[in-house]
Amino acid sequence: MPDALGGDVLELRARVLDLEQRLSQLADAEEQLSGAKAQAQALLDNIPHMAWMKNTRGAFLAVNEGFARACGYERVDILGKTDRDVWPLEHAERYMADDLRVMASGEKFFVEETIREGGDVKWFETFKTPIRNSRGMIIGTVGLARDITDKKRAEEQQRQLERRMQETQKLESLGVLAGGIAHDFNNLLVGVLANADLVLDALAATEENATVRERVTDIKNAALHAAGLTNQMLAYSGRGHFDVRPISLNEMIDGMGHLLSASISKKAQVRYDLADALPAVQADVAQMHQVIMNLITNASDALQDQTGVIQVRTGIETVGDAVPDLYGPTPLARGPYVFLEVADDGCGMDDETRARLFEPFFTTKFSGRGLGLSTVQGIVRGHGGGISLKTGPNQGTVIKVFLPSADRLPPVPIRKESRPGTEWTGSGLVLLVDDDERVRVVTELLLRSIGFDVLSVATGREAIAEFERRAHELRLVMLDLTMPDLGGEQVLRELRQRRPDIPVLLCSGYSEEDTQSRIARQHTASFLQKPYPFDLLKARLRDLLGCP
Ligand SMILES: Nc1ncnc2c1ncn2[C@@H]1O[C@H](COP(=O)(O)OP(=O)(O)OP(=O)(O)O)[C@@H](O)[C@H]1O
Ligand SMILES: [Mg+2]
Repeated sequence: MPDALGGDVLELRARVLDLEQRLSQLADAEEQLSGAKAQAQALLDNIPHMAWMKNTRGAFLAVNEGFARACGYERVDILGKTDRDVWPLEHAERYMADDLRVMASGEKFFVEETIREGGDVKWFETFKTPIRNSRGMIIGTVGLARDITDKKRAEEQQRQLERRMQETQKLESLGVLAGGIAHDFNNLLVGVLANADLVLDALAATEENATVRERVTDIKNAALHAAGLTNQMLAYSGRGHFDVRPISLNEMIDGMGHLLSASISKKAQVRYDLADALPAVQADVAQMHQVIMNLITNASDALQDQTGVIQVRTGIETVGDAVPDLYGPTPLARGPYVFLEVADDGCGMDDETRARLFEPFFTTKFSGRGLGLSTVQGIVRGHGGGISLKTGPNQGTVIKVFLPSADRLPPVPIRKESRPGTEWTGSGLVLLVDDDERVRVVTELLLRSIGFDVLSVATGREAIAEFERRAHELRLVMLDLTMPDLGGEQVLRELRQRRPDIPVLLCSGYSEEDTQSRIARQHTASFLQKPYPFDLLKARLRDLLGCP
């Protein structure tokens, strides 16, 4: 018995020992496990993005601080929950579907996705990987999501910048092309127009000559029309402002009332809201005329035979960093701008039209040419301004043109084009300087037909040489600005040094970065854009010579 009892006690002891050993192993294992958990948690928390682990049912086994912050729950409250409990349903469904895909394929997964938070869109890149146990069975997923919104925004800004640069380069090269073609065509048109004028002058207005006169008048009108197109090309290229001076937009709009009401729909009512004491803008009157006309006819067209209101507003606005919806290749420099706004309650524009409206030849109208707004854009760009646009289908359109304010300069009254001098004749010697022979020949003929004697030369050097010899015989100089050897500006300076009072009429078929207007202002010379109708040439000469 005692033996038997002693044997039991020994066995019991052995079992207790075994149990104690196992308990201690268990405690070790538990400690190891919690150590591993703590390490895993520390690892997760050290990741500066969102990180998590889930089991096969999608329940969270661990999440880091970044994750808890993003979904707005305490970390401990998330454990055991699924995506559906912590994210909006539409996002949660997508995340869980991605998890299933990772577990089914056993492959890593990467996606860039957006999340809407209120009005904000955030970008994330998400990586997911299956977790396998020691036997290779998939027991869950581990994931990491990085907020790349800033990177995406920077990329978008960079893309926009590149688009703008491309647009600027495109416009610049088109501008060079358009400007070059316009220049050559304008010289050719001087020949066509002047010869037509000379023929008309030579043909007495008799019945016999009537048909020929009609044909020649057609040639003249076609040339004038072509001159209108080359002018538009120059405007598009941003190089066509020939006669820049401080002007008041209000005064211009006031003066255009009659013209405007004649060219818009009878059902349109135009309302004016012109700011008091509007500062001047440095602009070319003829070009501003085009801008206003184009915007108002577009507004009238947008009414599509319905009754509607066109609101024309002017004012002053200080532009800071960004003007919303600003179009055009370059952002506006900070500063005060005079604006002209034309608003209509017409058909408005859909996204496609909106994206293309400044393209030359883009039109949605049956008989449109699609040149109105590309011209406006060229002109505004050439004047250092910008255009903003608000529109939507059936929501009307508001187009606002910003022009740098010339507030220190008082506006000069807008000059009415001088009276045609049909019956007027001149006398005395004119020095004609132009490198284009065709232009020289016809202009000489025109000048002679008015009664002038003409000394014509092809280069700036010859002009100066002739001037040296005959300065005191000359009544006037007609000087082309774009000559290859010695530019018009230099020639003008030399001539003025020798005779400051000599009247000078500058001519060009093309404007090189405002030179004409600058020169004309500095040297108080008059400027005539090629091609010029005979009447206009006469009127300018008459004004310059101070003839009544
Ligand atoms: N105020 C507006 N409302 C709605 N759509 C407009 C407005 N202004 C311009 N658009 C759209 O932009 C397009 C381009 O305008 P743009 O003035 O350049 O050419 P157009 O008016 O079609 O032809 P053009 O002016 O050469 O006769 C128009 O065809 C029209 O679809
Ligand atoms: Mg138009």
